[in-house]
Amino acid sequence: MNYEYTEEFRKELVEWFNREKRDLPWRHTIDPYKIWVSEVMLQQTRVDTVIPYYNRFVEKFPTPQTFAYAPEEDILKMWEGLGYYSRVRNLQAGVREVVETYGGVVPNNRVDISKLKGVGPYTAGAVLSIAYGRPEHAVDGNVMRVLSRVLHIYDDIALPKTKKIFEEAVTELIDPNNASSFNQGLMELGALICTPTSPKCLLCPVREYCRAFEAGDATELPVKTKKTKMKNLHYKVYIVRDNEGRYLLEKRDANGLLANMWQFPMIEMKKGEDALNKLIQQYDVKVKVKHGTVLTFKHIFSHLTWHIEAELVEGEATNDEKFFTREQIERLPMPVPMLKIWNEIK
Ligand code: ADE
Repeated sequence: MNYEYTEEFRKELVEWFNREKRDLPWRHTIDPYKIWVSEVMLQQTRVDTVIPYYNRFVEKFPTPQTFAYAPEEDILKMWEGLGYYSRVRNLQAGVREVVETYGGVVPNNRVDISKLKGVGPYTAGAVLSIAYGRPEHAVDGNVMRVLSRVLHIYDDIALPKTKKIFEEAVTELIDPNNASSFNQGLMELGALICTPTSPKCLLCPVREYCRAFEAGDATELPVKTKKTKMKNLHYKVYIVRDNEGRYLLEKRDANGLLANMWQFPMIEMKKGEDALNKLIQQYDVKVKVKHGTVLTFKHIFSHLTWHIEAELVEGEATNDEKFFTREQIERLPMPVPMLKIWNEIK
């Protein structure tokens, strides 16, 4: 875009954002800590889902100091249902660094803020521009979609190296005097107007500067290859209830998917294997009564699908510590598919 148009593009985008922006809770603050929290939540999660989580979070942890040393179980419970739970652990590690190294003040430059755990180029740019007004790029998938159309960029956005092309484009385009509204304007345009399918070009404030609109090929952009195929995993989940009405639970591994969250025992179903027998051996329980299947469903993660058959049995503890009361269970962080089972049987 030549410079004359750049200035008009900025003006149209910033004015549109200030006129049309949604009223979202994190848009009532410029506290860098709260902006950081909101941006971490908004990665991979829809705005409507994030709103109540954000409000609860900043109510319970209003400052870096209040969050930095909160117990892991509490922070996972706060995040329960949002998914990608490593986000909140990394956020806490980053916030702890801010408290210990920067006196509780989030760094206001890209070099230092990028050293914090969990702060990648996008989060860094979002916090720097929104909280501190710095003219820094904040490029996520939505921004790449918008700019691939405006600037007619045909590079494959599935390739990691492509992001740099967009970051350089934003660095050139960004309004140095309105960095916050400019970056949020690009995000808002991607959310409300320049959507993946059926973009509302006739309502777009920067249509005049959009090369894809001119060419009529907006829906063909961005170019995105690489479809990683979904893995399917089949599990039998046993709800083992003892004669005191307590339930057998285990904590997941500290690494990998849903790390450190709590679940009913899951047995992967493989051909020719007796799942109940594996349960009895692995968990060291006696099974007295079988009530049969209570729920069958699937849960889709980003890269894999769990196919779950949940079965209720009456059992007896060989090891008492593994059994939990209802009240205890309600306080433990559990993944969504487990909450679904729990809500069915409790
Ligand atoms: N998505 C990512 N960041 C956002 C923000 N600040 N507002 C709305 N949607 C977003």
